[in-house]
Amino acid sequence: MADLDGIKVDKNYHLDKEFATDGNFHVKGAANLDWGMKKRLTNIFNPKSGNTVMFAFDHGYFMGSVSGLERLDILIPQLIDHVDVLMATRGALRTSVKPGFRKGVALRVSSGSSMLNDDLSHEIVAVDIEDAIRLDVDCLAVQVFIGAEGQLESIDNLSRVINAGNRYSIPTLGVVAVGKDMERTDQYFKLATRILAEMGVSIVKTYYCDKFEEVVAACPVPIVVAGGKKLPEKEALEMAYNSMQGGARGLDMGRNIFQSYHPSQMADAIGKIVHEKFTAKEAWDYYSQAIR
Ligand code: 5RP
Repeated sequence: MADLDGIKVDKNYHLDKEFATDGNFHVKGAANLDWGMKKRLTNIFNPKSGNTVMFAFDHGYFMGSVSGLERLDILIPQLIDHVDVLMATRGALRTSVKPGFRKGVALRVSSGSSMLNDDLSHEIVAVDIEDAIRLDVDCLAVQVFIGAEGQLESIDNLSRVINAGNRYSIPTLGVVAVGKDMERTDQYFKLATRILAEMGVSIVKTYYCDKFEEVVAACPVPIVVAGGKKLPEKEALEMAYNSMQGGARGLDMGRNIFQSYHPSQMADAIGKIVHEKFTAKEAWDYYSQAIR
């Protein structure tokens, strides 16, 4: 255990300095990875902008049929041309997404609870690495519950998925879970995102918070920001803009896209912020125009 006596109290995130080894590759922390990892990360992060719009519709894995996701077979064809990556379960992919599509895939591989449980933090790894290979996915997504009852098993899940993914050059996306007892503070997200990065994930999904730029600076892999509960579109675009200003490399958004009355226009507006440096106002004007 590190000796905590005499520890430096002030922290310095060097917010004015770029991440040190980014030089020859557009994904933070991935410069030293092998060809297969880099190919898959390039399917996720656009090499021009370095950023990504991920569309999360994996909610059914514990929430069942949520509002907006009742008919994946109808929704996904409407959205597929408007996002960079689909984040889904294998059941959703095989049943409702045509295999010929040319976008990235983040495969949800952890599972084990449902809305009927009080404590959602107990999960297992539900997908074999061979099945992920058969589906030709670009990363494996595991939920991690730092500070919750299920912390140990979720870190065990994460480690096993990272080890299996590394054998076949498939990156892992660590998803920071927030539950009723987990605060959405920069202290909590600094702790959780850094633990996931040190475990070996190539991408972290977390939430926007105050001092978000410090969370990003202290995390040596790219952060994509979760949308969370549905907000009015204008607020969701502001959150997306603030996230990108704070150093996020993209959004991994679900409800704020599929619960919008105009999902594809909302996805496009997010894409303008993520890839074309639109301000929140410009993206809102774009969205308002597009839905007329
Ligand atoms: C949490 C997830 C989900 O994919 C994600 O939270 C869903 O997106 P949103 O919160 O934007 O609806 O990773 O388990």
